[in-house]
Order: sequence, then structure tokens, then C-alpha cells
Amino acid sequence: MDAALNGKTALVTGGTSGIGLAVVRRFVEEGAHVVVTGRRQAQLDAVAAEFGDAVTAVRADASDPADVATLFEAVAARGTGLHAVHVNAGIGEFKPLADVTPEDIDTAFGTNVRGTTLTVQGALPFLSEGAAIVVTGSTAASGTERNFGLYGGSKAAVATLTRTWAAELAPRGVRINTIIPGPTETPGFKGLLPGNGDALVQQVAAGLPFGRLLRPEEVAAVVLFLVSDASSGMTGSEVVVDGGSTIA
Ligand SMILES: NC(=O)c1ccc[n+]([C@@H]2O[C@H](COP(=O)([O-])OP(=O)(O)OC[C@H]3O[C@@H](n4cnc5c(N)ncnc54)[C@H](OP(=O)(O)O)[C@@H]3O)[C@@H](O)[C@H]2O)c1
Repeated sequence: MDAALNGKTALVTGGTSGIGLAVVRRFVEEGAHVVVTGRRQAQLDAVAAEFGDAVTAVRADASDPADVATLFEAVAARGTGLHAVHVNAGIGEFKPLADVTPEDIDTAFGTNVRGTTLTVQGALPFLSEGAAIVVTGSTAASGTERNFGLYGGSKAAVATLTRTWAAELAPRGVRINTIIPGPTETPGFKGLLPGNGDALVQQVAAGLPFGRLLRPEEVAAVVLFLVSDASSGMTGSEVVVDGGSTIA
């Protein structure tokens, strides 16, 4: 069987850790050249060392317009356009409403909403007919997790933005869908309880149908489906990959 992304160029934001790193790995296995972003240079260097010529690592903060411009200069320099984009860079933290500061609001919405918007907007000139975008949402957008309101609210905004962009992009033959992961075992997830991430994993796993969190590869498999021709009939959808957490 042909590799799904043979000879294609893809972009994965936040591709140096967790879900994004698993997507980079899967896209490379499927024959893509992947432009990968993140803020920490050491993590980018590790990705470049692991994947060699199959990736272009660009240090870019998704919330910073100058960094986003730098990213798309690197995309332009490849001269291939973009066939697949995974807008994945995202952050969250637990904080009770009473403790939320204006800076916390800017941080959550800066990466998750502003960053997603700037990335999709920046990608527009490079998307050819048949290209597909996947945006990472979260089950927290429709949940009631205490102390997670800013994060859930920002991810709800992301899902709404994606639906409206789907209508705008459809005439160009470009698809965009939201993937909605449930609890997934990543450095980011463990970082929600600094110093005690493993205890958080065990506690959450105990309440899930399979008794475990999702593996990043299980989310990556669905991202690959959403950028491949197998999902050519889908745009503006929210695809839940949650290990059954919504039925728990
Ligand atoms: N893990 C879960 O349970 C879960 C569930 C639902 C949704 N999600 C979503 O899935 C996505 C990935 O999460 P993860 O769990 O894999 O987290 P992770 O392990 O912390 O990875 C996050 C990635 O995003 C990058 N990043 C963060 N802020 C950025 C910014 N402003 N600009 C550019 N890159 C940035 C990080 O690198 P740097 O820190 O170096 O920038 C890293 O590469 C996020 O959108 C998250 O909200 C996760």
C-alpha cells in the first residue's frame, strides 16, 4: 500500500512532545517532510537529531506574530506548499477561578486561540486543493472539570473557530477538522500536577473505561486519517478520540 503522505510537506505545531511528536513520527513514517515547531530549542534539536532530513525544525511561539512569520518563511523556502497541517501547540493548567490573573487569561488564549488562528491564517497561501488541516481541541471544552475553565473555554473557542473556517475553506477544496483527545499520557498531561504527574495518571486512569490513558500514537493515528484521502468527505467535524472517557 502507498504511504499516505509520500512526497508531501506537512506542518505540525507543538511537534516536539506528546501528541505532536507522535504525529510527526507518524507523518514521517508515511513519507512526509514535516516542518515542526515548538518554543524550546533543545526539544527542537532532539527532533532534528531523531528525524534528520525528514524534518525542518523551526523555533516559533505560536502566539507571537513575528515567530509565526518566521515559520511561514521557512515553509515558503521549501517551495512545496503544504498538504497537511496539524495545529497542535497548546497549553493548560489547573487554577481555581478565584486565583486566575489577567496574565493567565492571556497565556491560555494566547497559545490556544491566538496561536491557532495565526497558524491557520499563515498557512492559507500554502494550501493547495486537497490539503487538510487538523486542529487539536479537547474533551475539556465540553466538560466540567473543576479549576480547568480557562483551558476548556479556550478549547471550546478553537472548536467553534474550526467549524467556521471549514465553511470558508471548503470552496478552495481545503478541509479542516477538530480532533478532540481525551486524557492522553504526555509530558504536558503529567505537567498538570508538577512533581506528581504519575500519581495524576494513575488517578485519572482508574476512572477510565480501559483503566488507562490514551497513548499519543492512538491520537496520531486519527490525525493521519483526518489529513489523508480516507477522510475526503469530512470537514468541520469534531472527532472524539477519548478512550471512552465520555461514557465513563
Ligand atoms: N494530553 C492530553 O491529555 C490532552 C488532551 C486533550 C487535548 N490535548 C491537547 O493536545 C495538544 C498537545 O498536548 P500534549 O499533551 O501533547 O502536551 P505537551 O506534551 O506539553 O506538548 C505540547 C507541545 O506544544 C508546544 N507548545 C506549547 N506552547 C507553545 C507555543 N506557544 N508555541 C509553540 N509551541 C508550543 C510544546 O513545546 P514548547 O513547550 O517547547 O513550546 C510541545 O511541543 C495541546 O493542544 C493540548 O491542549 C492534550
